Amino acid sequence: MIDLFGNNIENTEPITQTELSDEEVLFEIDQLKAELKEKLIILGHHYQQDDIIRFADIKGDSLALAQKAKETKAEYIMFCGVHFMAETADIVTHGKRTVVLPDLRAGCSMADMASAEDINKAWSFFKSATDEKIVPITYINCAASLKSFVGKNEGSICTSSNAKKVIKWALEKGDKLLFFPDQHLGRNTCFELGIPLEEMVVYDPNYQNGGLSSKQIQNAKVILWYGLCSVHQGFTKEQVLTIKKNNPRMEVIVHPECNFEVFSAADDAGSTAYIIDKIKRAPAGSEFAVGTEINLVNRLAHEMTDKKIISLSPYQCLCTTMYRIRPRWLLASMRAIKNNNPINVIKVDKTTREFSLRALEAMFKIT
Ligand code: 13P
Ligand code: SF4
Repeated sequence: MIDLFGNNIENTEPITQTELSDEEVLFEIDQLKAELKEKLIILGHHYQQDDIIRFADIKGDSLALAQKAKETKAEYIMFCGVHFMAETADIVTHGKRTVVLPDLRAGCSMADMASAEDINKAWSFFKSATDEKIVPITYINCAASLKSFVGKNEGSICTSSNAKKVIKWALEKGDKLLFFPDQHLGRNTCFELGIPLEEMVVYDPNYQNGGLSSKQIQNAKVILWYGLCSVHQGFTKEQVLTIKKNNPRMEVIVHPECNFEVFSAADDAGSTAYIIDKIKRAPAGSEFAVGTEINLVNRLAHEMTDKKIISLSPYQCLCTTMYRIRPRWLLASMRAIKNNNPINVIKVDKTTREFSLRALEAMFKIT
């Protein structure tokens, strides 16, 4: 079977229905979790489905999970999230822990929109176009090879919860900014920091020199990579306006991976942790339309029944790659750990890890 993005999602369950029922799978995960105790920590991103997040020792946004991975003493880190998050965990732990991603197919379509080869090509073009200092910033949603590029070129990584601080730092440090792979987070944050849209250009690697002239590079303050999130691009300005028209009491809060029109029309925006915190602190009776991944929105709605919480979009904005982490995959990975023969291990090579670490340490220092 092929999903919306052309991925093969054939039913290749590591533990079949004939072997164990869904209930038995959940029961065994519980048992193994108790058995493995401090040997294993389970980290769960907020977009994970309920039957995974219930087992997470720590739930969090990208920043919080990277910090927890850094601090843990557990021998094994089970990362219930996507590939770049597990790679980040391996980097911040200096490769001293064993990081497991229960299903190796859990990637990120945005991260796949920037390759090291394309970034290096773009960088050479920028260097030939201008002598001004360009500081590279990458959103944490990218491959380790790109984090390493940023480390080598004295830039920093950012997440959606610290993008403002990191970009501010970069603008004080250099003349221009290269922000990748998410054009929307880059544009939204730079605009909030007072940079006009006219001073931002978009580099599209599908065109010669990204579709830009040397003059455009010279005149730009910010060069945005063309990448985007396939989930958050599902939200539209029309959806925001319709909600506001039909229910003026309802507050619209979105993730900054949404496009500029949505971001500008919404009442508020922030990382998953920010969204959760804001809704939790709101008084009973408050109403929210939330522009982010559907598993998180549904969970908030079920957990806070004293508030009205709906998805901004009438369509299911599901991150299909996050959704690949399912209980059967988690259990198979836990069984392998129990047998001291871990599977689905994520390892970043030493040189990439060292340079990536520089870029991550820059972020931790700034924030
Ligand atoms: P945050 O949880 O950091 O807001 O990131 C959202 C996201 O898209 C993760 O891939
Ligand atoms: Fe990637 Fe978007 Fe899924 Fe986040 S929600 S993991 S950015 S595809």
